[in-house]
Amino acid sequence: MPTALVLGASRGLGLEFTRQYLAEGWTVFATHRSEDDRIRLRDLGANTLRLDVMQVADVAGIAWQLEGERLDVAVMNAGVYGPRTSSPRQPPGDADFDTVMRTNVLAAMRIVPVVAPLLAPARGTLAFVSSRMGSIAEAGAAYGMLYRVSKAAVNMVAKLAHVEHAPLGVRVLSLHPGWVRTDMGGPNADVAVADSIAGLRRVIADTGAFPGGCFYDYRGQSLAW
Ligand SMILES: NC(=O)c1ccc[n+]([C@@H]2O[C@H](COP(=O)([O-])OP(=O)(O)OC[C@H]3O[C@@H](n4cnc5c(N)ncnc54)[C@H](OP(=O)(O)O)[C@@H]3O)[C@@H](O)[C@H]2O)c1
Repeated sequence: MPTALVLGASRGLGLEFTRQYLAEGWTVFATHRSEDDRIRLRDLGANTLRLDVMQVADVAGIAWQLEGERLDVAVMNAGVYGPRTSSPRQPPGDADFDTVMRTNVLAAMRIVPVVAPLLAPARGTLAFVSSRMGSIAEAGAAYGMLYRVSKAAVNMVAKLAHVEHAPLGVRVLSLHPGWVRTDMGGPNADVAVADSIAGLRRVIADTGAFPGGCFYDYRGQSLAW
C-alpha cells in the first residue's frame, strides 16, 4: 500500500487527509504539536511525528525519523492565517509577520529538501495546501493581506520546487482546498472538510490530468498564479 506524509495533521484539513488515506489502507505519517493530538492520531492508526514547523530542529528531526522511507505523497498543510484585519491600510506588526511568514513560507522552503528525496524513488507528489487568496491574478479584495502575501510566496516555493525536483521524478502541486469549514475557515464556509479532501485527493492521485508545476482547486479546476 502507498505511504503519505501529512504535515500539520492535528485538525482541519490535515486531520481529514490522514483519516481518508488511512481509510483506504495507506500508511500515514502524521505530524502534530501536542501530546493530545499525538494520541488521537496514533489511535486512528497513523505513525506520529512531532513537528513544529517554526522549529528548525523539529524539521531536522523529521528528516532523520523518515530516513529510508519511500513516500508516495507528502502534503504540506500546516498553516496560519494571522490577523484578519491586515490590509494595505493596516499593515501587520512584526510579530504577526514573523509568525505567518515563518509558518507558511519559511517552513515550506525547509520542508522541500527534506521530503523531495523521499518522494523521488516512487515518483511521488509533493502537494502544498496553498490558497486561492495567494493568486495575484485573481486578487479582488485586500483583507487578509498578510495571509495572501504568504500564500503567493508559497506558490513560488511550489513552482521552484517543481523546477528543481521534477527532473528527479517528483511532481509538485499547489492546491486550493476551497473555503472550508475548519477552525481557520469558520462555520460559514461553503465546503465540507470531507468534500474538500476527497477532491484534493482525486487531484493528487490523477498524475495524467493534473501535471506538476500547476495550481488547482479541489474540484480540479486550474487556477491562475
Ligand atoms: N479552511 C480554509 O477555508 C482554507 C482555505 C484555503 C487554504 N487553507 C489552508 O489549508 C491549510 C489547513 O487549514 P485548516 O483550515 O485545516 O486550518 P486549521 O484548522 O487552523 O489547522 C491548521 C493546522 O496547521 C497546524 N499548524 C499551525 N501552525 C503550525 C506549526 N507552527 N507547526 C506545525 N503545525 C502547525 C495546526 O496544528 P495545531 O493544531 O498544533 O495548531 C493545524 O493542524 C492551511 O495551510 C490553510 O492556509 C484553508
